[in-house]
Amino acid sequence: MSDQFKILDQKRSEALMGGGEERISSQHKKGKLTARERLQLLLDEGSFEETGAFVTHRSSEFGLDRQKIPGDGVVTGYGTVNGRLVYVFAQDFTVFGGSLAEAHAAKICRIMDLALKNGAPLIGLNDSGGARIQEGVVSLGGYADIFYRNTIASGVIPQISAVMGPCAGGAVYSPAITDFILMVENTSHMFVTGPNVVKTVTHEEVSFDDLGGAHAHSAKSGVAHFACGNEAECIAAIKKLLAYIPQNCEDQPPQVQYSITGNELRPDLTSIIPANSNQPYDIKDVITGVTDEDSFLEVHREFAENIVVGFARLGGRSIGIVANQPAHLAGVLDIKSSMKGARFVRFCDCFNIPLLVFVDVPGFLPGTDQEWNAIITNGAKLLYAFSEATVPRITVITRKAYGGAYDVMNSKHIGADMNYAWPSAEIAVMGPRGAIEIIFKDEIKKSVDPEARMKEKEKEYREFFANPYRAAERGYIDEVIKPEETRIKLIRAFDMLKNKVDNLPRKKHGNIPL
Ligand code: HXC
Repeated sequence: MSDQFKILDQKRSEALMGGGEERISSQHKKGKLTARERLQLLLDEGSFEETGAFVTHRSSEFGLDRQKIPGDGVVTGYGTVNGRLVYVFAQDFTVFGGSLAEAHAAKICRIMDLALKNGAPLIGLNDSGGARIQEGVVSLGGYADIFYRNTIASGVIPQISAVMGPCAGGAVYSPAITDFILMVENTSHMFVTGPNVVKTVTHEEVSFDDLGGAHAHSAKSGVAHFACGNEAECIAAIKKLLAYIPQNCEDQPPQVQYSITGNELRPDLTSIIPANSNQPYDIKDVITGVTDEDSFLEVHREFAENIVVGFARLGGRSIGIVANQPAHLAGVLDIKSSMKGARFVRFCDCFNIPLLVFVDVPGFLPGTDQEWNAIITNGAKLLYAFSEATVPRITVITRKAYGGAYDVMNSKHIGADMNYAWPSAEIAVMGPRGAIEIIFKDEIKKSVDPEARMKEKEKEYREFFANPYRAAERGYIDEVIKPEETRIKLIRAFDMLKNKVDNLPRKKHGNIPL
């Protein structure tokens, strides 16, 4: 019997060594951790249960029959993060460069199937040279098996991808289908075609980092939701993110114990809106002023900064926030911000996370660039995402809510449950100047002093429309509230909405303007 145990122990320690000491040290020299070290950081101590540690490939071409490494380049299993079950896979770059082939893919698929059937998040730590070249089309099939499962699991369980090394070619499409992508500065890259192919095809000279590094994707393309300074920060960010989201679409987000203290007024909010309505201010001051202390986790921080999205807690409850940012491009809605907002709204709606929307939007961004790149279709994404969301939805208009953007930003007309406005709100078809130039064009032109007449008309318009009261008279705004009352109003309203049930008509699926 003891010999049998010895064999098992030997096999286990062999599996733990992955591609061997030399490759592990080369991984460390690149500033990267190994797959097992990453899992150790991610999961609660002693909680990891591994599956398929002894799996090897069955290939014999190109000398592979002489290189069989237990685990086949990916560590898979389950464990807990802060006591909550998660399923994980971590590609092991020390084994065939983490490349993906038949057995490697089958291990990942098995974990995905378990995650889906048992309703718990899937976390993938990607670090791979892509399709294992020696296994040819079988590797491509393995990728497709994963993409298919990513798609089927979408909206059922949260899926998080950390890209902690190379992720190139078609391999990028698994993270792309998942809900969140985190990248690590300097050591991770994502691209469909690398710098060499780019040079051949388009004659552009670009470095790995500029083409597909963490900054490129978190700030320029928006492919990555988080850019992290190092691997430890990346793993800490995954854990933080998990704290706001439920285990699956049938579950509720985790709630932190909170009792109303009796003093939920926030007088600091009163001085945020500048006297001049064309002056910027930072909407994040409103967000942090309203939500529970230190609870705001911004998503997509560097991308399309004219809209701010992220998770927070309000009275201990997990909420998703979407807010126009007047400090960037005056908070205008454009293609990127509409896509960013829409994607976030849909995530929250998939996973029962109530939505809080702050509105200060002058309208949609004009211009040929926007029109020719389909601001119509892309703006419609945000409109569609809000309209379709059945989670509790509350809106607070802090200042401008002009034109179509008023409708789009979670207005009552598209299904918001409660709509508040601050006294500084301006809700109208357009701003005073533009409106006057159109409706009083002739009258102003004919007057003896056009500028004075313009000012007079502008004042008249401002008094009539640039306030929340016309909308409140119609019931489009449920209540005009003082900024300092916002927090307590929202805590009560979300509590009132906690049992909301709303169903869409039966359909196969909608046809969001993609
Ligand atoms: C088999 C691979 C491999 C691959 C790397 N290795 N990529 N083995 N298939 N795709 C092996 C290397 O042979 C080496 O083995 C070890 O992994 C480490 O690789 P290095 O090149 O020494 O590491 P490094 O210098 O850090 O470079 C990493 C790399 C480079 C940038 C990823 O290896 C590389 O360019 N690999 C090929 C990438 C690629 O073209 N993949 C196919 C993409 S297309 P030893 O034994 O020496 O340690 C694709 C399509 C997916 O993936 C389609 C899905 C639909």
